[in-house]
Amino acid sequence: MARKFFVGGNWKCNGTTEEVKKIVTTLNEAEVPSEDVVEVVVSPPFVFLTLVKSLLRSDFHVAAQNCWVRKGGAFTGEISAEMLVNLGIPWVIIGHSERRALLNESNEFVGDKVAYAVSQGVKAIACIEKVTNWENVVLAYEPVWAIGTGKVATPAQAQEVHCELRKWLNDNVNSEVAASTRIIYGGSVNGANCNELAAQPDVDGFLVGGASLKVSDVPSFIVPLV
Ligand code: G3P
Repeated sequence: MARKFFVGGNWKCNGTTEEVKKIVTTLNEAEVPSEDVVEVVVSPPFVFLTLVKSLLRSDFHVAAQNCWVRKGGAFTGEISAEMLVNLGIPWVIIGHSERRALLNESNEFVGDKVAYAVSQGVKAIACIEKVTNWENVVLAYEPVWAIGTGKVATPAQAQEVHCELRKWLNDNVNSEVAASTRIIYGGSVNGANCNELAAQPDVDGFLVGGASLKVSDVPSFIVPLV
């Protein structure tokens, strides 16, 4: 299966209705090589998911920033994978390092969350352990020291880890999954550094935080094809 370049914008806990509308308007004007070659996913806070989905161009997609580990119920404050399916939200980021650090989400918990989300038909951007249908998973490598710091990994650093991740997939899952799984980089990516990173053979895209919120930088958020 040909790998598509994947660019994700993680808006984290940011935005107002006005700001969201401005960013989406700018995104909708972005020039993208083609949907067959680049997949663009933006991840607003939960409260803006349906607004962004209603305004976003049809070839871009929306992701939630988290979802619960099982079917909904008495879990105050959580949202379930079933709710995302009901809203037509196709993607979810799971196991982000900020949630691991702030909420103590363990690898086991993240693995269970990814497995459940994917089992309900939601595609996951995650660091994972237990998955059977890999075609619905994108792996995100995000060095904590690069998140929100302006210190981006060098292309060599990113390539080294991505290559190791692909080798792990090859050794622990199979060669087809290793070849077809998209491994994306996150951590201070912006319009100035994305091309060099994108040129690395095992960098299949990005998970962008701050730069995906800057209306001025959003056009460069759509990484030009290398
Ligand atoms: O999920 C992506 C995010 O953690 C990276 O943030 O602001 O360093 O691009 P940023």
